[in-house]
Amino acid sequence: MSKLALITGASSGIGWAFAERLAADGYDLVIVGRRQERLEEFAVSHPKTTVRTVVADLSTPEGIGSVAEICATEPVTLLVNNAGVAHYMPLAELPADKATELVNVKVLAPTMLSRAVVPGMQERGEGTIINVAGMIAFGGLPRTPRCPAAPSTAGVWRTSSRCPRLSARNWRAPESRFRSCARAWWPPSSTSAKAWT
Ligand SMILES: NC(=O)c1ccc[n+]([C@@H]2O[C@H](COP(=O)([O-])OP(=O)(O)OC[C@H]3O[C@@H](n4cnc5c(N)ncnc54)[C@H](OP(=O)(O)O)[C@@H]3O)[C@@H](O)[C@H]2O)c1
Repeated sequence: MSKLALITGASSGIGWAFAERLAADGYDLVIVGRRQERLEEFAVSHPKTTVRTVVADLSTPEGIGSVAEICATEPVTLLVNNAGVAHYMPLAELPADKATELVNVKVLAPTMLSRAVVPGMQERGEGTIINVAGMIAFGGLPRTPRCPAAPSTAGVWRTSSRCPRLSARNWRAPESRFRSCARAWWPPSSTSAKAWT
């Protein structure tokens, strides 16, 4: 039976590397981002993989809603909440629109996609959600004492990923897994699956 993975922010960097790795592992893919040409480039360069490209802006309710709809209706076995923006700046200097974008992409979108995908995983009795957090959520906080917004969004996923795992029995899907992951600094937009692996 084919496995279906949905990866947000797959048009570059870590998301692209996730997509490459999962394609190699035999997954069918739904890849999400705003840059259609990059998503198409991935699909064209992986002709043996079934790839559906979805152009969506996860900072907007419409974009989140369109991807959540896919999560709710397709048999997604693996959801990778990876899309992110890095607005590292002192809180008082963080423009309101950037603060909104940060929270929408890093917190609201993963929340809405996860709540949409979980019922199907419960029904099928298995599923995995990977939330790409960041080293900063695992104890790096003192390095950015004046820039709390971005680390906070990563911290949400460190905590959130622990909760459903601990109560997996209550979810009636004992094979469901929730992971938050972190890594040390990674040059944004690098696309080395080997390095990520
Ligand atoms: N690089 C690091 O050292 C590091 C450290 C800590 C945490 N992280 C986290 O790791 C994840 C991946 O980072 P990366 O280094 O691979 O960054 P990246 O190369 O800049 O990739 C970010 C991805 O997110 C997508 N994205 C951004 N805003 C979006 C939006 N509004 N709607 C839909 N997609 C959006 C981008 O696609 P489009 O531009 O096509 O929309 C892109 O594919 C992020 O969540 C980041 O916070 C990275």
